[in-house]
Amino acid sequence: MAATRTQLSQAYPIGSRVDEDGRLQIGGCDAVELAREFGTPAYIVAEDDLRARAQTFVEAFRARTSDFDVLFASKAFPCTAVYRVLAEEGIACDVASGGELALALRGGFDPARIYMHGNAKSVAELRFAREAGVGHIVIDNADEIERLEAVVGDGPPQPVLLRVTPDVRGMTNDKISTGQADSKFGFSMADAPAAIARVTRGPGGGRLDLVGLHMHIGSQILELDPFRRAIEAIAPLGDFGTYNLGGGLGVAYTAEQEPPRIADYVAAKVDTVTRVLGPGKRILDEPGRALVANSTVTLYTVQSVKRNVSTWVAVDGGMSDNLRPMLYGAVYEAQVADRFGGGTPVKVVGKHCESGDVIVRDAELADPRVGDVIVTPATGAYGHAMANNYNGVPRPPVIFVSQGDARVVVRRETYDDLFARDVD
Ligand code: LLP
Repeated sequence: MAATRTQLSQAYPIGSRVDEDGRLQIGGCDAVELAREFGTPAYIVAEDDLRARAQTFVEAFRARTSDFDVLFASKAFPCTAVYRVLAEEGIACDVASGGELALALRGGFDPARIYMHGNAKSVAELRFAREAGVGHIVIDNADEIERLEAVVGDGPPQPVLLRVTPDVRGMTNDKISTGQADSKFGFSMADAPAAIARVTRGPGGGRLDLVGLHMHIGSQILELDPFRRAIEAIAPLGDFGTYNLGGGLGVAYTAEQEPPRIADYVAAKVDTVTRVLGPGKRILDEPGRALVANSTVTLYTVQSVKRNVSTWVAVDGGMSDNLRPMLYGAVYEAQVADRFGGGTPVKVVGKHCESGDVIVRDAELADPRVGDVIVTPATGAYGHAMANNYNGVPRPPVIFVSQGDARVVVRRETYDDLFARDVD
C-alpha cells in the first residue's frame, strides 16, 4: 500500500482530516461508515464549513465597510437545508428563477432580502416575486422593463437594479464567462445609458425605483484584477447608491489550485468601489461557488476495475451527479476514502452510456478495488444543482454532517420518483 497521506488538500471541507488509519473523517464522521449507512453516491455536506465561509465573507466586508450585504447565489446549491443554514447565518439571497425563489422562501429567507435575477423572467415569475414581497428585482433587458411595469401597475414601486455588462473578461471557461459585451446577460455599456434613462424617467412613471447597478463578470475566476477592472469600467454610467458586484470568486478543486483568499477578494472589490465610485456606497456581493463548493464531497462505490491501455475505475455515479467535467472539462481529484495516498494512475469514470462520462481523468489511487469507497472533494457548487436522471439514474441524497452527527436533508430518489410525473 502507498504511504498514507495525512495532509489533506484544501479542496476538502474545513475540519476534515485523515486519521491515523488513513481514513477520511468529515464533520467528525467516518466517510466509509457514511457510505455504508446512507449508500452511494451521496453528497456529504460539512455544515460547519458552510457556516464558516458565510461568516468569513461577512467579517471581510464588515472589516472594510458598514454598508453591505452578502447574497448567497443560490443556483450553486439550491437545496432547502442549505438555504436554511445560510439564512441562519444572516446573509441575503440571490435567486435566478421562480423555483429558486420558492426554495429560498421555504428555506426561511426574508423576502425583503431576496434579489431576483434572470434574463428571461416570465410574467408569472415577476408576479410571484411581487406577491412574495421580493426586495429587489434585477432588470436584465428592455423587454423586461415594460413587463415589470405592467406587473407593478398601481401597486407600490418596485426597487430594481439594472444589470450591465462591463466588457471585462476574467480567465475562465467560455460557458461561464458573462462580462463581455456580446453576452446574453444585461445591458451593454453602449445600451446601458438609455436603459437607465428609460427606467428613471420613462413612460412607466415611477413604477420602478432604480437603486443601482448590477454586474457579474463570470465564475471560477482565480485572479482579482478582472473584478477591479469591471468596477472601473462601469464608473462612467453615473453615480448610484448601490452596486451589486456579482460573484465569481474561484475555489480550489485540487491541491494545485490557489484561489485568492476571501478577505483579499473582498478587499479588492470594496477598495476599488471606494476609490473609483466614491465612499459611502452600498456594496452587494453574490458568491455562490466560494460559499458552498468546498463544503461538500461526493462518495461513490467502485463497481469495476478494468485494465486495458488505462486503468478504468468505474463507480456508481457520474455525469448525473457531477456534470461539470463533461460540460466544462472541470478537473477534480479523487482518493480511496479509507486508503489515502497514491500509487496507481487511473481514470475514475461514471456509469453512464457515454465515453465522456469521466469524473477524474488523472487520478492516483492506492490500489483501487471493487467495493472501495471513492471520494471526490469540492462538489458542493453546481453538483446537486445540475444533477439529472440521465440513464434513469436516481439522484443522490444530501447528507449534512457536523460534530460526529449525520442527517439526511434530501433523500435519495427512488424508481417511483422516476414515474412521479406520469399522468397515466
Ligand atoms: N450572480 C449571478 C448573477 C450569477 O449569474 C452567478 C453565477 C453568480 C452570482 C454566482 O457565481 P459564483 O460565485 O458561483 O461564481 N454551472 C457553472 C457555473 C455557472 C454560474 C452561473 N452564474 C459551473 O458549474 O461552473
